[in-house]
Amino acid sequence: MSLIASFALSATFSYSHHIATTQPSASIAGRRVTAVSCELKDEENHVIDRRNVLLGLGGLYGAAATLGGQNKKAIGAPVHAPELSKCHLAEDSVTGERVFCCLPYNERDIVEFVPPPPYEPMRVRRPAHKLDPEYVAKFEEAVARMKALPPNDPWNFMQQATIHCAYCNGAYDQVGFHPPVSLQVHGSWLFLPFHRLYLYFYERILGKLIGDPNFALPYWNWDSPEGMRMPKIYLNPSSPLYNPMRNKSHYAALFDYKYAVGDPNPEPSREEHIITHNLHHLHRLFKESERSPKLFMGKPVVAGEEVPSNASGNLENLHNIVHSWTGTSEEPYYDMGDFFTAARDIVFFGHHANVDRLWDIYNGFRGHIPEFKQEDWFEASFIFYDENRQVVRCKVKDCLTPQQLRYSYHPENLPWLHARQHYFRLKGKKPIAGEPAPLPVPAAPPIYEFGPEPKPFVEPIQVIVPRPKVSRTKFEKEAATEILVIEGIEVPFGATARFDVYVAKFLDGHIGPDIGELAGSFVKIPHSKHKFHLLHHKSSLELGITSLLEDIEADPLDKVVVTILPRIGEVKIGGIHIELVKVDPEY
Ligand code: C2O
Repeated sequence: MSLIASFALSATFSYSHHIATTQPSASIAGRRVTAVSCELKDEENHVIDRRNVLLGLGGLYGAAATLGGQNKKAIGAPVHAPELSKCHLAEDSVTGERVFCCLPYNERDIVEFVPPPPYEPMRVRRPAHKLDPEYVAKFEEAVARMKALPPNDPWNFMQQATIHCAYCNGAYDQVGFHPPVSLQVHGSWLFLPFHRLYLYFYERILGKLIGDPNFALPYWNWDSPEGMRMPKIYLNPSSPLYNPMRNKSHYAALFDYKYAVGDPNPEPSREEHIITHNLHHLHRLFKESERSPKLFMGKPVVAGEEVPSNASGNLENLHNIVHSWTGTSEEPYYDMGDFFTAARDIVFFGHHANVDRLWDIYNGFRGHIPEFKQEDWFEASFIFYDENRQVVRCKVKDCLTPQQLRYSYHPENLPWLHARQHYFRLKGKKPIAGEPAPLPVPAAPPIYEFGPEPKPFVEPIQVIVPRPKVSRTKFEKEAATEILVIEGIEVPFGATARFDVYVAKFLDGHIGPDIGELAGSFVKIPHSKHKFHLLHHKSSLELGITSLLEDIEADPLDKVVVTILPRIGEVKIGGIHIELVKVDPEY
């Protein structure tokens, strides 16, 4: 059995065991009832059949996917790799400047990606804070060589960084749409596969440059207490791994998952508390989304659809916080804090290796089944320039697991698997009461009423939200996840924003001083603009709350109190509701 297989297996085991101790027999999946109609309506409510739009492009697939945003439905067609020769200026979404992010090759000599053969030795990615000096020296040498390549070499460090801008800041349009629809790999189910492949080629190019076929990228293990700081290997100013465009006040600081740009570093006396909360955050993220890949990974997006809409998953939201914590704290937030420049910082690849590893762990928990079944996911494609100097077209189906790509993650403890008990023990009580608010909440915030238009808020708001069903049975919970939806979120383009969402009991018609448990956060770092330069980035946030409601013993209550704590940015929201979403019947 391969290393990764045994790792994932043992992870599955301890996780299920953990779940089993908290939820005595959660295991049987329910039924899925996802009705999807096969139409897409345009602004005037005309029905457009995507099959007509895409005929002739070889992009005809029967599977359907729901569109985000406006509750439209669309017949599916995967998002295709761009036509590289049709590159145009991209846009730095923070400054609004037009920037050149075109890649120095095109699809003329493109070949289809062939995964590495199964006999190829496995590259093993290790935590950045545990590397031995030889490994670090090798990594430094590889990065130094990448930086020394001629500027227009596709392997050059800046050219590699430009790939990120090209796929994120609007350098390409999706193939076959008029008016043009820009290509965006963030904010949807494309996020994890795109970055997996991006790192795959990056790693192989680095290995090539030092003649080491086993070279593997390190990962920034920010899900373990020892990894919750910037790894030291990136902090030596004379190393090629150094980048001055980071928030220097964070060099020795503990990373708090509740960070919003501008927050002071945590006091040393609060560090244990913050570590516990970080671990619990991760535990909750996995547990609430275990049955719903859309919550974890991002929602379907199909060809012809502008993203970002409302489709990012909660892993991507958490990953955004690492970006904004690492990047400079002054606008325009270069490098890590702005997607235009993020990959110019080598720590980006350590960060994304960890994101990728968390996807792999999630995949293991779910029994190594593909998270989505739609052809629109499997067939979505991207273009890369590989370690053999070939332009290759890769599909999502090529990268469903690291094993397929002959790399793995060195097994490490997953301290967040057992974070729940400690978290509630630290609070000194049974899992009922809430944690102290990170910001002072007014003694009695007004109960908020939503109007027809989204309203801005600067103070915390509290909303009483009815639940569709109370006291659901175990079977019902397995069949459908209870989801809190914050809809109609508007953030000005180019802005960074964060708000946190807490859920508490609504008991006997009153709201107590306790704001309850953190269900999740909305975190945005600058993306590209839509093609029509809309004024706002509109999205929604979906958070699983099934186990949270058990934790606060709110299962029998027909209403809960949702508190929204604004942290940074000018945000409007349109409404809040709770819905039940059926889970994948095969899980
Ligand atoms: Cu492409 Cu961390 O973002």
